[in-house]
Amino acid sequence: MTSFLVTGGAGFIGSNFVRQVVATTDHRVTVVDALTYAGNRDSLAGLPADRVRFVRGDVADADLMDELVADAEVVVHFAAESHNDNSLRDPSPFIRTNLVGTFTLLEACRRHDVRLHHISTDEVYGDLELDDPGKFTPETAYRPSSPYSASKAGSDHLVRAWVRSFGVAATLSNCSNNYGPYQHVEKFIPRQITNILDGGRPKLYGAGANVRDWIHVEDHNAAVLAIIERGRIGETYLIGADGEKDNRTVIETILRLMGRPEDGYDRVADRSGHDLRYAIDASKLRDELGWTPRYRNFEAGLAATVDWYRNNEAWWRPQKAAVEAAYATRGQ
Ligand code: NAD
Ligand code: TYD
Repeated sequence: MTSFLVTGGAGFIGSNFVRQVVATTDHRVTVVDALTYAGNRDSLAGLPADRVRFVRGDVADADLMDELVADAEVVVHFAAESHNDNSLRDPSPFIRTNLVGTFTLLEACRRHDVRLHHISTDEVYGDLELDDPGKFTPETAYRPSSPYSASKAGSDHLVRAWVRSFGVAATLSNCSNNYGPYQHVEKFIPRQITNILDGGRPKLYGAGANVRDWIHVEDHNAAVLAIIERGRIGETYLIGADGEKDNRTVIETILRLMGRPEDGYDRVADRSGHDLRYAIDASKLRDELGWTPRYRNFEAGLAATVDWYRNNEAWWRPQKAAVEAAYATRGQ
């Protein structure tokens, strides 16, 4: 039995991680989450109180992090401002949470000699050309495009520096785009599904040729657990499941799965600085740690995700109107 401190555990990926830890291990979890617009206590509903404790707090609060990290054996750091479009509107919370928050946790881990796993994104590598045969590897140079990806890139650099300069026992992972239940309706796939459930239409940025490398959130977190259990300290593991799809194809698939004509979407204003393509080479993770994804059929995973949003309107409904109003002000 290990005691985990999970930051951002009321968010999309963090809450899935907590459920997976409870279901597949005997570890105990303390979740610390600021419950920003993106955090939702209902995403942790029904978990046993003797295994999961919830603390509302900010990762940039040094006193609180010191106290919580002192009681933990492993810190798993998911907490972040996570949406590119928001970072274009107002970058400041991204700097505070993603950079200052990570720094604050690193200092606490250093003081108490506690293991850290840092969750990051493939977006730190910038983008690939659509016709580039290559993929991102752990050796790819950092070249972030947006305030979000730049703040995540900075947080990765902080973690590596604390490993090298102060001997903090940390591992890092950079994952591609996740999908699955409990994802905030501001993100691409839940936005389109809930637009259709609301009688509206999906919204495609620009021509929709941009490619994302989709992975189911449960596969991401199974990889995170493997890295925590068997990964080498100081190493970076890229997580991806060979799920490249362009945005237009994803929208057409959602429309078809929901019984609508495949051309029933709107083209809207493109994102400024929009990354063209992400693609992950996960061979280090597969070869070293023996991880393989369970969700190999994107369409089946997407159909289950559609069903989840159909059956869980009470979870997403409170956020929907404000998210769409904010998009509308930008012609998206
Ligand atoms: P999310 O926005 O759904 O959840 C983020 C959580 O962090 C929320 O519960 C929020 O309340 C909390 N939080 C925000 N600021 C905080 C602060 N200052 N202190 C404490 N808690 C705070 O995000 P997500 O999609 O679950 O992403 C989780 C992590 O995974 C992030 O680090 C993100 O960069 C990374 N990541 C996401 C994806 C993806 O496709 N969503 C892919 C790769 C990596
Ligand atoms: P998003 O979920 O914001 O993830 P990321 O920016 O981290 O890749 O967007 C995924 C892709 O979908 C991205 O290329 C932008 C595009 N997109 C749309 O076409 N329409 C939308 O309504 C949204 C939110 C995103």
